Amino acid sequence: MPLTVLFAASDGNWHSYAAPLRAALAEAGLDATLTREADPAAVDYIVYAPTSPLQDFSPYARCKAVLSLWAGVERIVANPTLTQPLCRMVDPALSEGMVEWVAGHALRHHLGMDRHILNPGRIWDPTCPPLARERPVAMLGMGELGTACARALAALNFPVTGWSRTPKAVDGIPCLHGPDGLDRALATAQIVVTLLPKTPETENILNARTLGLLPQGAVILNPGRGALIDDDALLAALETGHVGHATLDVFRTEPLPQDHPYWSHPRVTVTPHIAADTRAPSASRVIAENIRRSEAGEPLLHRVDRARGY
Ligand code: NDP
Ligand code: OXD
Repeated sequence: MPLTVLFAASDGNWHSYAAPLRAALAEAGLDATLTREADPAAVDYIVYAPTSPLQDFSPYARCKAVLSLWAGVERIVANPTLTQPLCRMVDPALSEGMVEWVAGHALRHHLGMDRHILNPGRIWDPTCPPLARERPVAMLGMGELGTACARALAALNFPVTGWSRTPKAVDGIPCLHGPDGLDRALATAQIVVTLLPKTPETENILNARTLGLLPQGAVILNPGRGALIDDDALLAALETGHVGHATLDVFRTEPLPQDHPYWSHPRVTVTPHIAADTRAPSASRVIAENIRRSEAGEPLLHRVDRARGY
């Protein structure tokens, strides 16, 4: 009997995924029906995005795994009806996109590009930026995306310090962990990149105290989650110039409300949660491989630790 794979995500996701996901399931040797509607009792796997109205997983008694299209799972991880294993998205194309966004915005600030792109006064200012080797970066979060970005920035010669919950050894990148490690990483960072998941421990991790540890004029790049930053504390630090600029891709409320002070703040750049997108062709192969593994009795990849929250 074919496997029933329920696709629980937006119409737009269905439009992008239906063909590549069917192809990937077939390529993985799986006899599977991919559908947007099914008797819950007959569903073997759920492909899920929080854009779906599905909130009650309890009728899906036979379901062997819920496979998230998103890397960040904060909107589903604490759902009490979700007793099935949950896997998050780790997609090579997602990492590639994130590396490009982080490197691009880091270089923008490092090189002071705005001074020349926006130069209405035609000011001939030949001041050269320092070299990347003189611009320390703190990478908060050294998981799939943070490590890829840290490596890319280190390859450009930025002295990158990684920070994570548990100790890490990454070639060429000194890594710190725990609360003391955070303070040390921030104390010298001229650019801070936040690639942490949203959990109770990481909420407001950039707050008045931790922002105060940064050197004057440091730049924040947040492609992680809006809740990692205490918005009022950031606005206050931007106001005094203690934080020189914040480039923010994610917000507590998305789309960012029209009257939010970030939109008009001269030291803030808003990007609309586009830092990195899961790409249907590669993400479909990741999902199909996980279903294949599950059917073969192999452990699922990228399983979320529900207690940890990511
Ligand atoms: P991972 O789970 O691979 O990595 C998470 C990292 O955060 C790990 O290094 C982990 O530490 C660290 N971490 C978690 N909790 C803490 C803590 N309390 N203190 C210190 N470090 C902590 O996630 P990804 O790299 O794949 O993704 C990171 C986030 O990026 C996602 O959760 C999502 O929010 C965001 N994202 C944003 C996108 C966008 O377009 N803007 C696209 C995709 C993802 P340890 O290694 O010790 O476990
Ligand atoms: C994700 C995201 O978590 O798009 O995948 O933010």
